[in-house]
Amino acid sequence: MIGAVNRPTTPTSIVIIGASGDLARKKLIPALFHLFCNGFLPERFRVVGFARTPLDDESFRQEVAETLTTRFQPEPGECALAVGHFLKRCHYHQGQYTRADDFRTLGRRIEGLAGPRSGLLLYMAIPPDVFLDTARSIRAAGLADEEERPWSRVVIEKPFGRDTASSSELTRALGKIFSENQTYRIDHYLGKEAIQNLLALRFGNRILEPLWNREHIESVEICFSEDIGTQGRAGYFDRFGIIRDVVQNHLLQALALVAMEQPIRLTPGEIAREKDRVLRATRPMNAASTLVGQYEGYRQEPGVPEDSITETFVRTTLHVDTPRWYGVPFEITAGKALAERKTEILVRFRDLPVAFFPGAATNTLRIRIQPDEEIELQLNNKVPGMNMTVTPVGLNMLYQQEFATALPEAYERLLLDVLRGDRSLFIQQEELAAAWEVVTPYLQERERLLKRPPEYPYGCQAPHIFLRSDETPYPGEE
Ligand code: NDP
Ligand code: BG6
Repeated sequence: MIGAVNRPTTPTSIVIIGASGDLARKKLIPALFHLFCNGFLPERFRVVGFARTPLDDESFRQEVAETLTTRFQPEPGECALAVGHFLKRCHYHQGQYTRADDFRTLGRRIEGLAGPRSGLLLYMAIPPDVFLDTARSIRAAGLADEEERPWSRVVIEKPFGRDTASSSELTRALGKIFSENQTYRIDHYLGKEAIQNLLALRFGNRILEPLWNREHIESVEICFSEDIGTQGRAGYFDRFGIIRDVVQNHLLQALALVAMEQPIRLTPGEIAREKDRVLRATRPMNAASTLVGQYEGYRQEPGVPEDSITETFVRTTLHVDTPRWYGVPFEITAGKALAERKTEILVRFRDLPVAFFPGAATNTLRIRIQPDEEIELQLNNKVPGMNMTVTPVGLNMLYQQEFATALPEAYERLLLDVLRGDRSLFIQQEELAAAWEVVTPYLQERERLLKRPPEYPYGCQAPHIFLRSDETPYPGEE
């Protein structure tokens, strides 16, 4: 079926802890299936779902099949045929996260299925409050023991804690259970093609570096908007809010990659070191330069308390106090229930010292992370004709047009990295702590004041809501 490219060879068991949940269904199962279709999974592998929900192999396979065939249409041809082969390798083990015995029986099952010398990937697709108890059960059952098998790796989902103190406590407690080398803290934005490209764009091109600083850059905007609300995840979301959900992790990672210095080498340690330095140089969020909002109807959603003060929108200005960026605002916007789904980074260059041409606009570099990954450099160009007038035009690179291959899903890339033992795109302890330092003082202040954020209409334009009085809308928008 399926051509093998750099296929790991060790027989492998992939255990999804929390297999009955949203992440498993939406992202992990489809990602594993695509890896299987493209020949990236080892010849001998098993996917074992673990959760409390009473299922057996048969009913779990039905759920997997439904996910693959109805919600995520596999591409026609070989991949469609592969569903059957994939399902045969899927199993389910019911158990409680706090019960080590349930993980012991899981261990025995895995041995029976994949053999005693299989690599073991344990993916914690469970709510963060259950991470630690689950980790303890895994340790007590001996599943994290690397002497017993070629490798045992644990993937931990975000959010890692709720603030600086709880995150460092979680890191410390997990550090007693798993070695740092076997811990993979996932931030799926780092698996996105256009995010990874930030390194190539910045450090693989001569022309950007001389301009990439406060002398030439006026501001950087990082904008995340979704056209959906909490979509059945209100119970989780309400306890965290948009700042913890996407700013502390995805957007600060994007900021770090935009603002960091060139690492000495492209190794996980060196990249993380530079990201950490930039995050430590970032002034913490403060109330004076932050606006929060909550979409209308949020408090009526099942699982959301009537008096919830959780923010579903945030707009904040951050400053990176390094010689390269001193004085340049980094505008961060993140919101649910807005007009469109879009994540992008907009770098605005400074205007020319003399306004020479009427009609000229600020040069910008727009990096569209999703959807429709794109890089667009906006330059001023003469309008063809007898007059010397200029107009801004975009030089575009659309991934879809430029590259024939479909872009891998972030979770595909990251799961493969775990199988290969490559931690480059996973979050290291120091940068995690530094990112929490940026958001924690503001979060604590909000929780102390207990102020309900103003409401905004479901589906409105992100830059328009809470526009400060001294601002104009983004170019091209009303
Ligand atoms: P779910 O709420 O769907 O929970 C996953 C499973 O965990 C459930 O099916 C349930 O399984 C079990 N579970 C739920 N609540 C509890 C509880 N209070 N105590 C014990 N077990 C519980 O979560 P998601 O799948 O949405 O997310 C899992 C992890 O992934 C979280 O850390 C989340 O932050 C992260 N994440 C999720 C994303 C998504 O799109 N869903 C995206 C990025 C990260 P059972 O009852 O069968 O045991
Ligand atoms: C997750 C957040 O980390 O990222 C979700 O928990 C959010 O709330 C999601 O919807 C966005 O991911 P993507 O890949 O769809 O941009």
